[in-house]
Amino acid sequence: MKTTLSVIKADVGGMVGHSSIHHDLVHCAEDALESAKKSGLLADYRVQWVGDDIGLVMTHHKGEENEDIHRLAWETFEACTKEAERLHLYGAGQDLLAESFSGNVRGAGPGVAEMEFEERPSEPMLVFLADKTSPGAWNLPAYRIFADPFNSPGLVIDQAMAGGFSFEILDVKKNKMISLNAPEESYRILAFIGAVETYVIKRIRRRADGAITAVMSTDKLSLMAGKYVGKDDPAMIIWCQPGIPAGGEATNPFAFPHLVPGGMRGSHIGPPMPGSVEESNPSRFDGPPRVICAGYQIADGQLVGPLDIFRDPGFDQARKTAGKVADYMRHHGPFEPHRLPPDQMEYTTLPQIQEEVADRWVDGDGLTKEALDAQHAFQAKKKVDLE
Ligand code: F6R
Ligand code: MG
Ligand code: MG
Repeated sequence: MKTTLSVIKADVGGMVGHSSIHHDLVHCAEDALESAKKSGLLADYRVQWVGDDIGLVMTHHKGEENEDIHRLAWETFEACTKEAERLHLYGAGQDLLAESFSGNVRGAGPGVAEMEFEERPSEPMLVFLADKTSPGAWNLPAYRIFADPFNSPGLVIDQAMAGGFSFEILDVKKNKMISLNAPEESYRILAFIGAVETYVIKRIRRRADGAITAVMSTDKLSLMAGKYVGKDDPAMIIWCQPGIPAGGEATNPFAFPHLVPGGMRGSHIGPPMPGSVEESNPSRFDGPPRVICAGYQIADGQLVGPLDIFRDPGFDQARKTAGKVADYMRHHGPFEPHRLPPDQMEYTTLPQIQEEVADRWVDGDGLTKEALDAQHAFQAKKKVDLE
């Protein structure tokens, strides 16, 4: 019988502001999932959190995108929202963007990552959750895990990995998918996934047998709601060992706090700090963006764990680097590249400010449109002549 690991994540109320969660919400979610386990819907569950997000980690035998599982997640978040309202927590129900459940939580606000697999005798799984960033934050570490032999020696010395991995990449703006194969299409993969707000890795498969080895949530709240309604704090599941990345190959990229979008008002770039769950309360400038990793062994559908993977002195240096990078970026104040470029600020509250002075713009003394058109026509003709 196949097992499915479903990770469904939402911010339904912050404590204090957007820093963290209140433990009553965790207990509320645990009560709901415990009933579902007793009823036989779930095999097992854990309630995780990072910053102001709750992550429902659930095992079951119903496959991906199952309506009963999604309804359970939705109703659990609704119950947690009531609790958040009772405590007057900040932004109660923030990520629930639909009036009611309609068959699937995807597109309704919560982030979803699900993986169905045939259990092996021992099944190590890593569940990553991040706060104050967006799904493209996984692009760089995922590439390094599954395509960079300088990170993952298994790509060089493990026969089962040597055939490479295929990357399913989603264009979140056009809702189109492409599948590209590493290693031979590595440069093409990078051509897309380097643009983290547009192209996000959705799934990674081992090419030898098509097995899914990583799944990411790709839900972007601003694109669903059409405006800034909080960040798209993502989840990622990585299936580990052997013949796929070792646990340590999957965690090593997080020793480098690469810059990611999504901090402070969804408008700033900052370094994701790998940290313990207990310390995942991003409170300095609503950051730095935070990433936690919950490690599980899965045994007959039961979740053994979690191990708080980043509660390891091996990541102290990364935390220090993230702190230093946060200082450096903060010195830019409202300037790019700390602040996101204009096209990505469209979904923030900035356009309202710009609108207030919209009628005060007058023609500038730069080139007129006619002059520019003439210049472009000349350049095009010159190119044709040269050819
Ligand atoms: C939340 C986030 C925060 C908020 C900021 C303003 O995920 O990134 O930086 O955007 O605290 O929050 P509001 O607009 O709710 O006052
Ligand atoms: Mg929040
Ligand atoms: Mg959050």
